[in-house]
This record gives sequence, structure tokens and C-alpha cells, in this order.
Amino acid sequence: MKQEQLTREEMMLKHPEQYYLWLTTKDDESRSTDTSPVKDNKSRTTDVLDPYLHKIFEVSDKYLKRVFNEEVLNEFRIDCFRHIRGDRNSTIEQYVKAYYDLIKREYQKQYTNADASLNQSIFSQPHIPKALWGNCLDFLRRMDSESVQLMVTSPPYYNARDYSQWATLDDYLDEMSSIIKECYRVLDNHRPFVFNVGDIFDNDNRETKSSWGKRRIPLGAYFTQIFEDHGFQFVDDFIWDKGEVQTQRHKNGNRPYPLYQYPVNCYEHIFVFYKHRLDEMPYPCPICGCLKVNGNAYSRVGVKSWECKNLECFERSAGNRGKRFSARTQLMTGLQRSENLVGEDLLHRWRRDVVKLAPVIKINSKGQNTLGHTAPFPKEIPEYAVQVFTGINESVLDPFAGSFTTTIESFRQKRNSIGIELNRTMFRDAVLTRFSNTVGIRPKEVDSE
Ligand SMILES: C[S@@+](CC[C@H](N)C(=O)[O-])C[C@H]1O[C@@H](n2cnc3c(N)ncnc32)[C@H](O)[C@@H]1O
Repeated sequence: MKQEQLTREEMMLKHPEQYYLWLTTKDDESRSTDTSPVKDNKSRTTDVLDPYLHKIFEVSDKYLKRVFNEEVLNEFRIDCFRHIRGDRNSTIEQYVKAYYDLIKREYQKQYTNADASLNQSIFSQPHIPKALWGNCLDFLRRMDSESVQLMVTSPPYYNARDYSQWATLDDYLDEMSSIIKECYRVLDNHRPFVFNVGDIFDNDNRETKSSWGKRRIPLGAYFTQIFEDHGFQFVDDFIWDKGEVQTQRHKNGNRPYPLYQYPVNCYEHIFVFYKHRLDEMPYPCPICGCLKVNGNAYSRVGVKSWECKNLECFERSAGNRGKRFSARTQLMTGLQRSENLVGEDLLHRWRRDVVKLAPVIKINSKGQNTLGHTAPFPKEIPEYAVQVFTGINESVLDPFAGSFTTTIESFRQKRNSIGIELNRTMFRDAVLTRFSNTVGIRPKEVDSE
């Protein structure tokens, strides 16, 4: 049978395996003089492909076949050969990034409820803030897994406001638990959730409905348990010192006798919870780009580490050990670019575990609420979280956006900023006015179905 005559480009597309074989069975010199199946000199692969990419696939081939099925691997090869250009270092960098992106896409495919058009609205145009109106649980369930790099929020504090009421504390905690479970899925791996909540003074309505049932409700403790139950790791708890209490209501100043004293709300928690999903996928060595790696060790915190076993790697220790790395270290070094440098002032301000921040003054001299919301948090909270936990262009989500403080602040910091708020009727006008007054832009709005 007559063999079809194909250009390299056609061969790459139609028969990636043959093409790959051709690349890996010939050395550079014979490849550059081999003209056999090529009709058109303009598509000669040696003009467009970086030779080191061949080397990566050559060394990694057997390991790649263990990780990906044939179809996925062929597509990946073609994509790499088509798009990766440059000198050796840049080839390695681009290849490693392409590999991480592939692992992410493959992981995301496992979740079948994602809504492609919603994800397109949220993640395209990262320079435009997004306002999603509806129940965050519904939106989260339609979002891609591990698609958001930071979550910052302050939930409704049980029955502290008219706009959010539950019959009992347990109903409230159950609802919050379903939401946090979904947040865990949507949050990217090795990324944090910064969660501001107060230990309010209220009635849990479990048994005693009268004022006798009022007590300090340790929402911070309950939420810590919920977060841990869903796989998050408790990492930090800043105490937000709210300064002088604005009211005497629980102090019973008119009854200065024993047992009349009740708590006041003069502090809140700002928790940092991390997601560390143990990802068993092997990752290529960041130094030579090859997948000839062995799992080294992993701790119980959910981070697996790897050691490069490619003897031709460009970095070996004095004891001839290969480069040791993890997906997490790779993520962290990748963020070390000048545009992500965190200011010293900010770091200094948050160096202590107790942070003094004045509560937001929302009522003006005429008694009007200028933010249109009764419970905004200070912009310093998202300002800190966004700069310390994300890089430029990454995505920040506030599932309980309220007056969109997080969304406005992360937009200011050039992040893809997304807020979800249930009470559209109550807050939309004020939110749009706040966007135009502070950052001069209208958010892209998405309504729940
Ligand atoms: C404490 S406020 C957030 C305030 C916000 N940090 C700010 O600076 O304006 C909580 C918000 O969550 C909203 N909310 C309550 N349940 C919700 C849900 N299931 N989905 C989305 N938003 C919800 C409430 O309407 C309220 O605006």
C-alpha cells in the first residue's frame, strides 16, 4: 500500500504517534536532514520546534502513559509541539505550566454539574468585576472545581440582621455547612479561605425562646468545626479588635451588682483556613521538565512531594539527589514576581494576631445609610487577604458579598473579582452606586436561573 505523503504538520495532527516516533527515534542531525515524508519545506518541524521539548517527551514518555490515556496524551503532545517556543528555560517553563493546566482540566472533568456558560461569564474578562445575584449555594454548585484562588467573606451572623433569619441555630449551621462544603470544592488546591465572623450574643432558639436563652454564641468555634469537617485546615485566627464598644446594652450599667454582666461584641475572628487536597498526580521536575519522578513523602497535611530521578537533570544535590519539589512549592515560587510584591506597611500592620480596625461607619450625619448595607466589614480585611494570598489576575470570590467590599477591593488590586449576594432587591441599587462612586465601573451582573 502506498504510504500517504504528509507534511510534518499534517502528520502531527493525523498520526501523532507516528510523528512522535519520528521525533524520538532520530537524533537532531538526521532529523534535520530527513526529508522523506515532507512535501513542503515551510512546514519543516525543525524550524518551529524547540529541540529540548523532544527530550522532555523522550524521557517522560513511559511515565506520561501511566498518567494519561492515549487520546489525552496525544492531544497534549500536539498542543505542546504547536505552541511551545523559545530557549530551553522558557520551553521548560511553558511545558510545566501546560502540564499543570492539563492536570487541572482533567480534574475538573470529574465534576459533571458545572455550567459552562456560567463559568465563561465568571472567568472571562478578568478585568471586569462580577456581581452574581442569588443563593451562593446554587451558584457554587454550577462552578468549576478548583477555579477560584481565594475566598474572602463574612457570612450572615445567624439572626443578627432582619435580612437573614433562621428558626434555630442548628438550621443556620446546617445551611452554612452545605455552603462551606461546596466552597471547598470550588476553591483551588493549596489556597485559603479568609473568613470573618463574630461570636454574637443571641438566643440559639434550641430550647429556651425567652431572653433567658440569650448567651454568647461561639460562632467562631462552630465554624472552625464545620470547616475542618469539610477538609479545611485551620491555620490562623486574627482577632479583630473593634475598639470601644458603641453601646452599653449588655453591660447593665444601671445594675452594678453581681451576675448582671453580659458579653458585648467588641471583637471578631478573621480566620484563615487552607485547602490541601492530597493530589497523587505526579508533576514534572521544575528544573528539567521531565516526569521521571518518584513520590518522596507526603505529610498528613495533604501535600505530596516528588524527587527528580532524571540523571541528566540540570540540578543535583551534593549527595547526587534529584530536585525535590511539590505542586505547592511550585505554586508559591510561581507567584514570586515583582507585580505580586506585598508592601511592608501592610505586612507590618498584620504582623500581630490582634488587629485594630475601626468598624465601618455607614450612617451619615443625616441618619442615612451610605452603603445601603447594615453589616459591611472594613476594606482592610479583603485588602490584606487579596494581597497576601493571591497574585494579579487570579480569581477572588466572596459568596456573601453584601455591599461588595471584597469585590471592589479585589478589583482595585487587579484580580478577577466575583461577589454573590442573595438579596438583590434590597442591595442592588446601593451596590451599583458604590461601584460607580469608588471604582467608576459597573460590574457584569448575572442573575440566578
Ligand atoms: C455579613 S453580610 C456581608 C457583608 C459584606 N462583607 C460587606 O462588606 O458588605 C452577609 C451577606 O450575606 C447575604 N447572604 C445570606 N445568605 C446568603 C446566601 N445563601 N447566598 C448569598 N448571600 C447570602 C446577606 O444578604 C448579607 O448581605
